[in-house]
Amino acid sequence: MLLPSLTKRSASQLPYLHQYQLPVFDFLAPCLATRISQSPRLHFSTSRRRRRAEVQSTDNGSLQATSPKVKTALSDEQRKFLESALRVNQAGELAATLIYTAQTPPIVKAHPHLRPLMKHMYDQEAGHFSTFNNLLAKHRIRPTAMYPVWQFAATALGWTTGIMGREAAMACTEAVETEIGEHYNTQVRVLLGWLEETEKKGEEVPEEMRELVEQIRKIRDEELEHLDHAVGEDAKEARPYELLTSVIRGGCRGAIWISERV
Ligand SMILES: [Fe+2]
Ligand SMILES: [Fe+2]
Repeated sequence: MLLPSLTKRSASQLPYLHQYQLPVFDFLAPCLATRISQSPRLHFSTSRRRRRAEVQSTDNGSLQATSPKVKTALSDEQRKFLESALRVNQAGELAATLIYTAQTPPIVKAHPHLRPLMKHMYDQEAGHFSTFNNLLAKHRIRPTAMYPVWQFAATALGWTTGIMGREAAMACTEAVETEIGEHYNTQVRVLLGWLEETEKKGEEVPEEMRELVEQIRKIRDEELEHLDHAVGEDAKEARPYELLTSVIRGGCRGAIWISERV
């Protein structure tokens, strides 16, 4: 019952969190509390009837949203791609926040100089998670049914690599960001292809779609920045580096494949 009680208290009301001796939770606790108190699952609907009420068929068979908030005209295939992509992105960012949450205490305890870096990466992951939570809620896309499994797996991965030490934790970040960077690159390429097609047809490119491309590009760049930090912090010195990164990268690919479908 500790975390729910934290939701009602600001970090400034918890002075002990700012003491250097217990540094690891002052940036984790408020965000964890926010995540619990603002669970996106409360806002999602999987109701097809609700979607039908918002979307009507046009003459050429494409789907046109009637809500003034959703201006994008998408084919069925495009809509399915986007739903599955955003669902995977949310699951990935959930995992990222939990990996850092589990890694931070042992890593910062053993290497206090890494605290700003861990906080920086965690804060960015929390921002990414919030972005995709908002997009899923806005477009009424359901989260993956594997949500609780990924919560457990990401926490276990973060805890294990954190206990293994700095190099293993950084190797974990390197492996995850390599896969996620490629994943976001693929999405950016597909979306840019759509925009190009739309422009070629002389149709108006929805502003919302341009914004989405820019959001994903920005997030991808931040993931690649994490990768660079991890390599700079001796990720490649982890032992056994090859085995560890291969297993984590394989796990990421598997989780992406499953989350696209389930
Ligand atoms: Fe991220
Ligand atoms: Fe990241």
